[in-house]
Amino acid sequence: MTSRIPGFYKLPPRERLAALDEHNDLDDESMAVYRSTGLTLEAADLMVENVISTFALPQAVAVNFLINGRERVIPMVVEEPSVVAAVSNMARVARIDGGFVADSDPSIMIGQLQLMAVSDPEAVSARLTEALPRLRDEAAGVHPRLQERGGGLRGFEVRQLTYDEPGRPVEHMVVLHVLLDCVDAMGANMINTLCEHLAPLVSELTGEEVGLRILSNLADRRLSRASVSIAPVNLATADMDGVEVAERIAAAWRFAWADPYRAATHNKGVMNGIDAVAIATGNDWRAIEAGAHAYCARDGQYRPMTRWEIDPDTGRLEGSIEVPLQFGTVGGPIRVHPTVQSNLKLLGTDDARELAAIAAAVGLAQNLGALKALATDGIQAGHMRMHARTVAATAGARPDEVGRVTVELVRAREFSVERASAILDDLRSGR
Ligand code: MEV
Repeated sequence: MTSRIPGFYKLPPRERLAALDEHNDLDDESMAVYRSTGLTLEAADLMVENVISTFALPQAVAVNFLINGRERVIPMVVEEPSVVAAVSNMARVARIDGGFVADSDPSIMIGQLQLMAVSDPEAVSARLTEALPRLRDEAAGVHPRLQERGGGLRGFEVRQLTYDEPGRPVEHMVVLHVLLDCVDAMGANMINTLCEHLAPLVSELTGEEVGLRILSNLADRRLSRASVSIAPVNLATADMDGVEVAERIAAAWRFAWADPYRAATHNKGVMNGIDAVAIATGNDWRAIEAGAHAYCARDGQYRPMTRWEIDPDTGRLEGSIEVPLQFGTVGGPIRVHPTVQSNLKLLGTDDARELAAIAAAVGLAQNLGALKALATDGIQAGHMRMHARTVAATAGARPDEVGRVTVELVRAREFSVERASAILDDLRSGR
């Protein structure tokens, strides 16, 4: 199997699928799924309420990825042009020197039980701490199969919080954190069930009222990391040498570190990659977004998810990412959605930690692609090329004409439907 399929992007979609099959030996079931619209109405009706239809988005694959020495074809579901092209290009650059290295912590989710408006937080914390062995015993019976799979309770933490917004009465809370290794599940249902199960006992043992019982999406016990090392020469463009490109990428990163306004956009680009993998694999991308962004504010200022620096000794561009990624390969819509199943097979993993690590590498690649474009030609050139294809099609170009009309629109730097119609007329009349 290989993720390196030269000329892949130039093929029409059906031929692309055939080329993917040829290089990766897809099973018949996946081929049938990729040729179909995927989710049936009946299956959709099992997923949410009030279903009337299904909604399609482009399913693409990013190629060229080498992660921890293994070839990976990455399924991505995304509506934005340039995202898949950018990650594939950056993966091609990264593989020259061995690709990405990536890993994830165990899949530990945090659940929160809030003891509301306590008058003596020290005393309540002490009672709660004393009650932990009893809570541990109670928790052990809640998800017995999870323990068989190597997961289960990983501990408790007792926290004291104060609501002290100026001008309002001060309120003290004690919050119990429950840590649960959910193995291959994203874990929302598991941790919420456990929190709700423990709540009456927590209330009984502390004599306090329990308020919220819910997971935290700031899943900072399940961090994923990826890194890559790039020789600047491999970043050169037609107009700029690689050392300058690398320096500009590092400068762009420092801008994001210093400024939340830039960091938000920088991180949006990272999530272009991570979300596309999350959607393709049936994961809850809102949870992943919430956790990843919240983690970026851990030192009090919102910072970039990635880091890009030039190594002073080697001159190489070193990139890394660390974010909480609450991915699962079981549960939720994952079993119900046929395309998700095929995508996991294509990725070659049913391990949630591995999937999250892959997504981290994709996020890093996406960020490199965005920063490289921003540091050199700007992103509009690539975007406008994709946009030109839509304009050509809107002007009535047939699939075999779109390419030529697009080239002319880009050459003229004008992207109106009128211009596309004129180009099309010229083309058809042989002018
Ligand atoms: C666009 O979807 C993402 C970018 O704005 C990210 C960035 O600015 O780093 C290009």
